[in-house]
Amino acid sequence: MCGIVGYIGKNNAKDVIIEGLKKLEYRGYDSAGIAINQGGKLKIKKHVGGIQNLENLIKKEDMESHLGIGHTRWATHGAPSDLNAHPHVSMDGNIAVVHNGIIENYVELKEMLKKEYSCEFYSDTDTEVIAKLIGVLYEGDLVDAVYKAVDMMRGAYAIGAISASEDDKLVAVRKDAPLIAGIGDGENYIASDIPALLKFVKEIYLIENNETLVVTADKVSIFDENRNPVEREVFHVTWDADAAEKGGYDHFMLKEIHEQPKALEDTLSRRLGEDGLINLDGISMTKDEIENFSKIYIVACGTAYHAGLVGKTLIEKYVKVPVEIDVASEFRYRDPFVDDKTLFIAISQSGETLDTLEALRVAKRKGARVLSIVNVVGSTVARESDDVFYTWAGPEIAVASTKAYTTQLMCLYLLSLHMGLTKGTLERAKYDAVIEELKAVSDKIRLILKDSAKIEKLTKKLYNRDNIFFIGRGLDSAVAYEGSLKLKEISYINSFAIAAGELKHGTIALMAPGTLVISLATQDKLFEKMRSNMQEVIARDADIVSIAKEGNESIEEQSEAVIYIPECADEITPLLSIVPLQLFAYYVAKRRNCSIDKPKNLAKSVTVE
Ligand code: AGP
Repeated sequence: MCGIVGYIGKNNAKDVIIEGLKKLEYRGYDSAGIAINQGGKLKIKKHVGGIQNLENLIKKEDMESHLGIGHTRWATHGAPSDLNAHPHVSMDGNIAVVHNGIIENYVELKEMLKKEYSCEFYSDTDTEVIAKLIGVLYEGDLVDAVYKAVDMMRGAYAIGAISASEDDKLVAVRKDAPLIAGIGDGENYIASDIPALLKFVKEIYLIENNETLVVTADKVSIFDENRNPVEREVFHVTWDADAAEKGGYDHFMLKEIHEQPKALEDTLSRRLGEDGLINLDGISMTKDEIENFSKIYIVACGTAYHAGLVGKTLIEKYVKVPVEIDVASEFRYRDPFVDDKTLFIAISQSGETLDTLEALRVAKRKGARVLSIVNVVGSTVARESDDVFYTWAGPEIAVASTKAYTTQLMCLYLLSLHMGLTKGTLERAKYDAVIEELKAVSDKIRLILKDSAKIEKLTKKLYNRDNIFFIGRGLDSAVAYEGSLKLKEISYINSFAIAAGELKHGTIALMAPGTLVISLATQDKLFEKMRSNMQEVIARDADIVSIAKEGNESIEEQSEAVIYIPECADEITPLLSIVPLQLFAYYVAKRRNCSIDKPKNLAKSVTVE
């Protein structure tokens, strides 16, 4: 949610900040703003809408300055508007603040500021409370005022602050929301995410919880909550700036769909040795531990949760241990049966999803061993886990997750195969056969992508349906949930996924002429059952588009259209069958003129509860 960029140094702060914010716009895009220190005065400009609106607003302004902070917002407190946009300022206008996250006690702080300091508020945001609070605590030392303010605040936040009367520094602080510092030469940066700084620096500091950053043009200093200096290793970013550009595609989402073959090859090749065995380099889980886990939890949100649904089936099949799967926002408020014989698997693209992070912390407190499957290297989930199984998907910019999902699946295949082989619950011959299938997956996806035009054409007659259902059995039902989420988040079509056998227990009441049902029928061993469920739908005059394996022509008589995926073993199909569904969602959304990379109401990384 929301993006932060701050700069101090030899170049024009405004240019760096706007450039950085553009790279972060996927995090939040309902308004944007900037504050600069210009000759000892703060100049603040903000505008509702995307960065472009802010850029237009300041085009003709004199915005020359060496120091500034900027923000792109995803509304939590207060509607998107010029007034609610960040930065917010102290009563005397001396301090400007940008903020990601939520201040839980902002109501009581606001009352206190009104009563004791006669503060007046112009916005509905919790961030304005932070600015006013730092303002009333300020006695000529911004660092001191930020420390005192943080002592009074509860919640999750990354905050950047500058003062008109201290033009030599910017100050930032982090608690449960991502924050990094970029290390330049005669210039330094802060940001909420790595992509914001890729164009400028490759060396960064990853800031930990409760740490405060004091950034001057020559130095980045990190302090702990007791104001003691902290030594931090420099983190070298290996992504290049191009990885975060559209590269000729109309949208990041389409580019990322097309990047899947390569991303899957990267994820596989980093783990697969010449002997065909999976190396768990950097993962310290032992054979004894694998043999002794009595239960596995998989916990995640959204798309990552859907990857977990596939993971549950794979682990139970290969490792023969019960797997519970839960959405993180529910897991953390239950009293789950977790102990020191539990393996807790967290899945997260960003590694910053607050619900997932808090669930992980609950599991850790209860003694579980925590392994995370994460895309963003050095993210908080990665840092707080005992072991990390990285997906090598590269930066995923589109809000709708695609390559992160398939690489998460790849990690789950590899992890479950490794655990099964180690534990002796999976025979080597079966293991080798699945590995061979995994090696062939990227080329099979290339074949599906080659046929994209057919899917685009199909959407021509389907894009204006009001209701679209996704059904499937077994692994197909897991993919149905993901296909449905993809469609609804970017096309705004009312879409619903359900295990096909469950239809008759209620949802079938919604089948009517004009209803479209996407039927995933790729599981050979469940095909006859699936065919019956499709028949039930047809009997209610709904239309069916099927996803089936090549060669299954018999399905054509029950379907308006069939999208074929290349032949593969039943357990591999999720890696393939999701691709036509991603393309289907993309082309439907495109025909409906939706904002594909930045759908309304959504943000890439959800760092609030
Ligand atoms: C996917 O298309 C969504 N944007 C969303 O469901 C996402 O997968 C979810 O918020 C979890 O994010 P994470 O993987 O970064 O933890």
